[in-house]
Amino acid sequence: MDESSPDLQSQQDEDLEGSYSKLPAFRRKQATVSSFVFYVLCSLGLLICVEVIIFSRFLLPLAVGNASYSGDRRSNVSDLINLEPEAPFRTSFHFQPPKNWMNDPNGPMYYKGFYHLFYQYNPWGAVWGNLTWGHAVSEDLLHWLDLEPALKGDQWYDVGGVWSGSVTFRLDGTPIILYTGLAEDLEQTQNMAVPDDASDPFLRKWVKSSENPLLRHPDGVYKEDFRDPSTAWQVEDGSWRITIGTQVETDGMALVYKSRDLLHWELEKNVLYTIPGSGMWECLDFYPVAPTGRRGLDTSTRGPSVNHVLKVSSYNDQHDYYAVGSYNEVTQAFTPVNQELGVLYGLQYDYGKFYASKSFYDPVKKRRILWGWSNESDTEAQDIAKGWASLQVTKLFVQIQASPNIKAYL
Ligand SMILES: *[C@@H]1O[C@H](CO)[C@@H](O)[C@H](O)[C@H]1NC(C)=O
Ligand SMILES: *[C@@H]1O[C@H](CO)[C@@H](O)[C@H](O)[C@H]1NC(C)=O
Ligand SMILES: *[C@@H]1O[C@H](CO)[C@@H](O)[C@H](O)[C@H]1NC(C)=O
Repeated sequence: MDESSPDLQSQQDEDLEGSYSKLPAFRRKQATVSSFVFYVLCSLGLLICVEVIIFSRFLLPLAVGNASYSGDRRSNVSDLINLEPEAPFRTSFHFQPPKNWMNDPNGPMYYKGFYHLFYQYNPWGAVWGNLTWGHAVSEDLLHWLDLEPALKGDQWYDVGGVWSGSVTFRLDGTPIILYTGLAEDLEQTQNMAVPDDASDPFLRKWVKSSENPLLRHPDGVYKEDFRDPSTAWQVEDGSWRITIGTQVETDGMALVYKSRDLLHWELEKNVLYTIPGSGMWECLDFYPVAPTGRRGLDTSTRGPSVNHVLKVSSYNDQHDYYAVGSYNEVTQAFTPVNQELGVLYGLQYDYGKFYASKSFYDPVKKRRILWGWSNESDTEAQDIAKGWASLQVTKLFVQIQASPNIKAYL
């Protein structure tokens, strides 16, 4: 856009004034009359604007604010708690809880008419700590209704925090949560929670499995380096796989676990992928992408032409790296198409503040939606003063461009 410098602008103003005084008298009168008419029209416009604002901000909410869920479920969701645009620095398009600290997006999904977003949330303040699964629902990914946290640390295996994880749909369509719990001694454990009432589209209440913890760190893995179970995918024989991030010595690694029932998991001998010396890997995301076209694929989509994306959040440098490649169900190996541009060799989702991302398949619009945590740049003191920290960034879908790059559209 062309923008006049202030000097140029005042020069133009002078020129305009000069040309006004040079007009013949009747033209000047005409100009004055049209200015007056213009002024009246503007005032009228302003008045209408003010009325629209008064109506939409004060009268409309009064009219719809008390509508009940059974009457019109939309009215609950349009009762937005998320957005307080007038509060300084809060955003209108990025998801933020009403207040406090937020980090990783967790278990995004679509269920019974609503998009669900869970997020790492500290209900006690605007700093990292006491993590729970915050929970919000939306019909359009822009307007959110923030609910009570879905999971809080109240068992020995998660009393230190309910950390990141994913949602997987069982074959009967019920979602389950797999998440990392932090025990008091900082051991990281893998656990399950299921909806208390799967007929509630808001899925407000979740019940932790009596078999938790489902997984403890394997031999050779330090108890504090074992976290963030991925969404499970199904292989040909019907069994499930998940990947979990770790490091062995300093080799970043994507472990694979196998299960028949999503409850009992067994470590596979082979790892999905590893890079010597790359440090701790967290928030792994592993999903299929179609070789052409803009359609996203559901996480268990298989077939010879399907490519896979492995995304690694590098704890050491706090960026999200990915590679496009092929997945061998028998050996469990992921092989990047281009070894040179493999994971941690140059391909990043985003070069700004975007970390711990997590994608999900949107069955309504058949697209893969990617969420990522943006940490912004404020200091802790500024966050405490604001009363909140961080936002979520959404990229609407992921498509392969010129192989092996993928493009995420906003
Ligand atoms: C919708 O809002 C009404 C009134 O605010 C409340 O009574 C009802 O429980 C809400 N429904 C849901 C599903 O949250
Ligand atoms: C964690 O919660 C406790 C209350 O259970 C509170 O005293 C403490 O300040 C909280 N810590 C953080 C970092 O919010
Ligand atoms: C986020 O900000 C905190 C300080 O508020 C900093 O310690 C941390 O490294 C940052 N993380 C990322 C992913 O930028």
